[in-house]
Amino acid sequence: MKKRFAIVLLAMSTMGMPVFSQNHTLIVKAAQPTADIQPTMWGVFFEDINLGADGGIYAELVKNRSFEFFKPLMGWTVNRKKFVEGEMLVINRTNEDTRNPRFLRVTMNNAAKGDLGLTNEGFRGMGIKKGLRYDFSIMYRQSDAHTKLHLELIDTLKNVIGDTVLSLTEAGDNWHKAAVSFHARETVLKGKLNIWFEGNGIVDLDMISLFPGDTWKNRPGGMRADMIQLLADMKPGFVRFPGGCIVEGFDLSNRYRWKNTVGPIEERQLMINRWNIEFPHRNAPDYFQTFGLGFFEYFQLCDDIGAEPLPILNCGMACQFNSAELVPMNALDPYIQDALDLVEFANGDANTKWGKVRADMGHPAPFNLKMMGIGNENWGPQYIERLKAFQAAIKAKYPNIKLICSSGTDPNGERFDYLNGELRKMNADFIDEHYYRKPEFFFQNARRYDSYPRNGSKVFGGEYASHVDKTAGGTRNTWLAAISEAAFMTGLERNADVVQMASYAPLFAHIDGWQWAPDLIWVNNLQSYGTPDYYVQKLFSLNKGSKVVPITLDNDVVAGQDSLYASACIDAATKELIIKVVNASDKPQVNTLQLEGVKKLAAKGKLTVMQSDLTALNSFDSPTNVAPVESTIAIKGKKIQLNSSPYSFSVLRVKLE
Ligand code: AHR
Repeated sequence: MKKRFAIVLLAMSTMGMPVFSQNHTLIVKAAQPTADIQPTMWGVFFEDINLGADGGIYAELVKNRSFEFFKPLMGWTVNRKKFVEGEMLVINRTNEDTRNPRFLRVTMNNAAKGDLGLTNEGFRGMGIKKGLRYDFSIMYRQSDAHTKLHLELIDTLKNVIGDTVLSLTEAGDNWHKAAVSFHARETVLKGKLNIWFEGNGIVDLDMISLFPGDTWKNRPGGMRADMIQLLADMKPGFVRFPGGCIVEGFDLSNRYRWKNTVGPIEERQLMINRWNIEFPHRNAPDYFQTFGLGFFEYFQLCDDIGAEPLPILNCGMACQFNSAELVPMNALDPYIQDALDLVEFANGDANTKWGKVRADMGHPAPFNLKMMGIGNENWGPQYIERLKAFQAAIKAKYPNIKLICSSGTDPNGERFDYLNGELRKMNADFIDEHYYRKPEFFFQNARRYDSYPRNGSKVFGGEYASHVDKTAGGTRNTWLAAISEAAFMTGLERNADVVQMASYAPLFAHIDGWQWAPDLIWVNNLQSYGTPDYYVQKLFSLNKGSKVVPITLDNDVVAGQDSLYASACIDAATKELIIKVVNASDKPQVNTLQLEGVKKLAAKGKLTVMQSDLTALNSFDSPTNVAPVESTIAIKGKKIQLNSSPYSFSVLRVKLE
């Protein structure tokens, strides 16, 4: 066999054809399933980092709309012809409304358009699209009806590219809402919003808002459709939210509290985003969480895209890299109550306290929550002690809710070993493992789960990303990173009885506002693109299958021999065999896939291939530079010849007849 191959090689090279330097026979035992693949296997992990929520998927264009940032006029510029003392005052009504205490009081002195106004700079500018409708709204209060607002969208040269007038017609002591929609006449990446005042006297303003008309599912006050579409296209099995480190907070006052994120948006209490100050070299002083995007919206998003919701809650511990603040055990109850109430919010009927909040927000049907995480990257005996209290209370009331438990920040070492041991003793449902490591780690760990215990706690690969050269900053999403993840993921898939969920992290990054790289999807104010890592994730997710079947090379799993990695599964619904092969070598390979346990195969299969130089990237100008390419492969009998280019990832789907 080898001799014959050598002759063929010689013949090919003399004919000027590519020389395939490696040849292996991979045996696929299609009738011997070894594990079920859960529908939740491949998911996404969302955190408000890198302007992921505010300035990201939350489509609000006005920054600091309710003047609650530490500097109340951050993001705003006052425009005036002549300075008049006290004409713009930020007033704090703590005694009236503790969740949104500040508002802006404007005193107009017979103001005409152009005399007195405000400009909002947006989140690193506002992406404005020609012909698109923009929905402006505002809350106001005035003693008599005297105010007109002249609204203008402007480009970087201050040219007006869209405008309208809004008359504030209500008067009295109460707050009112006014809204108007208008269209933009040009497309600009970094526009701004002007508001000019016309009238005389005092007007109080709050919740000044501007949304594009093309939000996801056209929901008013909704999400940025292009970004959500990229998620929906992946068909993720779950969405993990809202983090990440923001769950922990730099101290406990800064922890994520879901109850502050539901109900009317003007009553959601803004908070500094911990990524505002986390990295001195990537400071983002204007990064806050408005919670316009809160737990209801996350659940709704999961509903929309057919993903299981996976909320992560604070466990009574703040980030241990920061304050490491700890709630004493005798004060943990409110934290546990938050977890119990969340199940009621998601699943309870409209007669329950929290089920009613959900129903009042427009979703009387339950969200069908099945799992939640307790703690993010927490560690040590303090974590285990608190987790046990959560576990006892949640399982007593909701025995079917699966709990995801932290194994700390690293996939090995003393902390990991301690937690892994303790969690298995506790019979934790899921152990959340995180790996931010170099590409070598991912190649070397393709066998990691082959030797894991098959019974007891399951693994959730809750955060992972291959980290190439640190100095590369925002350009770390190379094909090397992505192909190493693909190699590793074949090992996850092969061990789907042990690893039942996995998600890359982080998900989104704004090119002008990121703190952490690499990331799965990059955006600016108008565009978004998937990285090579995104396409790897998507290929696994769209080719998930339902049962793992063995694929072997010389009776061993395919996990690094000649830089080859492979996994195989059956999709029972479509009656297809799916084979994934990574050739991480710099040589082309021609491999024979020998299928056993199949009666007959279709004459053609669908082959999807990603291949590139290891340093290749995607970008706004070239968003699919590294992306899957589909073709058809002819099949004769039960042997398939698969030509794998250097540094390639191939997914083959063949119908079983
Ligand atoms: O994904 C970025 C951060 O990495 C997450 O917030 C945290 O859980 C991890 O350390």
